[in-house]
This record gives sequence, structure tokens and C-alpha cells, in this order.
Amino acid sequence: MPEEVNKSECSGGIRMTRERVSADNKKVILNGRTVDVNQLVPIKYKWAWHYYLDGCANHWMPTEVSMQRDIEQWKNPSFFTEDERHVIKRVLGFFSTAETLVGNNIVLSIYKMVDNPECRQYLLRQAFEEAIHSHTFQYIVESLSLDESEIFNMYRENKEIYEKDEFSMSCTDGIIDESVDLSTKEGLQKFINNLVAFYVVTEGIFFYSGFVLMLSFGRQNRMPGVCEQIQYILRDESIHMNFGIELINTIIDENPYCWIPEFQDFLVKRIKKAVELECSYAQECLPRGVLGLNLPLLKEYIEYIADRRLEKLRLPRQYNSSNPFPWMSEVIDLKKEKNFFETRVTEYQTGGTLEW
Ligand SMILES: [Fe+2]
Ligand SMILES: [Fe+2]
Repeated sequence: MPEEVNKSECSGGIRMTRERVSADNKKVILNGRTVDVNQLVPIKYKWAWHYYLDGCANHWMPTEVSMQRDIEQWKNPSFFTEDERHVIKRVLGFFSTAETLVGNNIVLSIYKMVDNPECRQYLLRQAFEEAIHSHTFQYIVESLSLDESEIFNMYRENKEIYEKDEFSMSCTDGIIDESVDLSTKEGLQKFINNLVAFYVVTEGIFFYSGFVLMLSFGRQNRMPGVCEQIQYILRDESIHMNFGIELINTIIDENPYCWIPEFQDFLVKRIKKAVELECSYAQECLPRGVLGLNLPLLKEYIEYIADRRLEKLRLPRQYNSSNPFPWMSEVIDLKKEKNFFETRVTEYQTGGTLEW
């Protein structure tokens, strides 16, 4: 039986045929923007399928987490300093809307371009997880009786958050409006730039000051419910980022003509710009040191994770900073354990597969 896939059956109408799909003929981007029946099997990209299974194994809902102690702490006027309240609100202000940026980009950009079925299976799972993350911040804001318009409008009022969101949004041009042509080098580079801006920068760098700041409260048994939820989000995000980097590297391997030195230099510059934006955000969150944290430490951490992202993209390291927060690796890497903040017993099945 012939195994070759006729391109026409992947690009538009369905064709009646006894020809079977072969894994060898699958590509991450076959034709782009296919709205067709997708055959999930035979699976070619086993990593995509395994990330999907990992995401399902880590399923959680924010409403499973008690906010009682957080509410008591937040309502106690002497429990937090003004600087600490500022940090918490800034972290919630960024996350509350950045999650929707990521979800929108999956649905409006990536899903249309990437027509491989096993990658799409993961993208559907990830889109749901982004909805859960947005739900989380709605749940936190409601539980703590915060001014919801103050938190959810922060991206339009705070310069540092606005600039981070702008950075991500600037990489959707030509992708959402579908003017890019993925069969050209320039079109593919634009799409790869979009994937880097969301998977590597937004989910892999822009979220990390917030993770460190919020989890530092958790290490002191403060805001335990919020921190438990942030811990689950961090776990989800590390899978999102790993999937995204694998996706980017596979697209490059399948289309090596787009991976030219000029484009690599361009991406390095973009990531360095993102590090600057994240450091400005960290400085604004943390004008004075709190919780044993200060700006130089956060900057070192941001540079350290940026180097790790660059290496996974097969690009040169830029900073050679060391990790000032080794405890962050423990939060991410633990396999099966009591919850890091000891609020409940939780079984994770996939920690060992996570690299962040
Ligand atoms: Fe998310
Ligand atoms: Fe994500």
C-alpha cells in the first residue's frame, strides 16, 4: 500500500483514499493553516505526545486550594509592610493579564500555523492550562477582595508591565492577520520569532521574577494558598517552555535554510532586550529589598535563566551568571513529595522529566 501522503489531503478538502498516513511524512508545519481531519497516529513527534501526557498528569484547579490563611494574613494590617503589599500586587498585576496573551497567541497564531496533529493535541491542552491560570488570578483577586480593576488594568497603567506586554504583542504582526507566508524564509523567521517571544521570553523569562518574588513569601509561610497555586503554574510553565523550545528546534531542523547567522543574532538581541525589560520590572516591583531579596540578586537570576534558554535554543550564552536561588530548582524538580509549602499532599508524576 503506498504510504506517501498526498499534500492535497492535508491542505483543504478531504480526499477519499485507502492510502495510509506514514509518520515519516509528517512535519511540524506541513502546509500551515490546515483545517482538516488530523490523524493523531502514527505519532512521529513523541516529545509532543509526552508533554501532553505530562500536562494531563499535573492537572489541577485553583479552587482546590484553600485561600483561608491568605485572607487572614492579607486582612491583618500589620502582617505585611507596604513594600511587601506592593510586590504582591505587582506580581498579580502582571500575571493576571499576561496569561491571556499567551492563550490568545496559541489559539490565534500558533495553532493555525502548526498543523501536526500531535503538536496540536499538546496546544489544545496548553490553551486549557492558560485558561486555568487566568482563572487562578481571578480566584485570588476575588478571595483577597482586591480591587479587581486595579489588578487587571495594571498592564495599561504601569510602564514596566506595559512594556513587557508590548514586547510579546509586537511579535504577533503578520501572524494573527495571516499575511506571513510560511513557505518563505522571511515568513518562517517571523513565525519562529513569535514562538521565541512567547515560549522563551514571556513564559521562560517574563514570568520568572514573579515566581521568585511570590515563592519567597511562601518560603516564610506567607500567602500559602497563592504560593501553592504559583507553584503549580511554574510547573505547567516549565512544560510549556520545554515544548515550545522543542517545537522551535524541530521547525529549524526541518527548515535549516531559515536559521542563518543574521537571524540568530537578531534573536539573541531580542532576548537581551527582554532581560532588560524584566530587570526594569523587577526594580519597579522591588524599589527596596524585601524578604532577603534585592535587585542585584534578581538580575543575576534573570540573566542565569536567560543563558539557559539561549543554550537550549542552541545560541551562545551572554551572561555567565550563577543561580542565586538554588531553591527554585527544588520547587520545579521535585518528583513526588509533600507540597513544597506543606499545605497538602500532592503527587506529581512528571517532575523528573522537567528541565527549566
Ligand atoms: Fe500560563
Ligand atoms: Fe504557559
